[in-house]
Amino acid sequence: AVTRTFSIIKPDATRRNLTGAVTKMLEDAGLRVVASKRVRLSREQAEGFYAVHKERPFFGELCDFMTSGPVVVQVLEGEDAVKRNRDVMGATNPADADEGTIRKTYAEGIEANSVHGSDSDENAKIEIDYFFKPEEIVG
Ligand code: CMP
Repeated sequence: AVTRTFSIIKPDATRRNLTGAVTKMLEDAGLRVVASKRVRLSREQAEGFYAVHKERPFFGELCDFMTSGPVVVQVLEGEDAVKRNRDVMGATNPADADEGTIRKTYAEGIEANSVHGSDSDENAKIEIDYFFKPEEIVG
């Protein structure tokens, strides 16, 4: 089925001017950008977005990193969008990511791993709603 997922192009990628290159890899994987905006996350937004990780030892650093520069938040649409996006992103740690994936190609490390993507349809909906109003998504 055609579904939607939520993606973030992270500060390490925007800093290296890779917004277009990352977006091209997403598009080449069969995903369509149906909403996109460049934003600087506030501390509150980053902490709220990553609330499920708040007990993890890396939570503070992760929020520092995600607020360190602009990000591009996107809604992606396609056949099995969550899985399709996760396949093209590759493993969280670029050292474990397959050749040809975004993280293998561009990530700097496990934290500065260039992209985020939702891990389930349920979380995709929550994450899309966290950043976008319905009228900002144009399919
Ligand atoms: P993301 O898919 O955005 O979800 C949580 C993020 O936490 C993850 O990508 C990484 O950027 C970061 N992360 C996950 N594991 C670690 C770790 N062990 N150390 C530092 N950052 C991590």
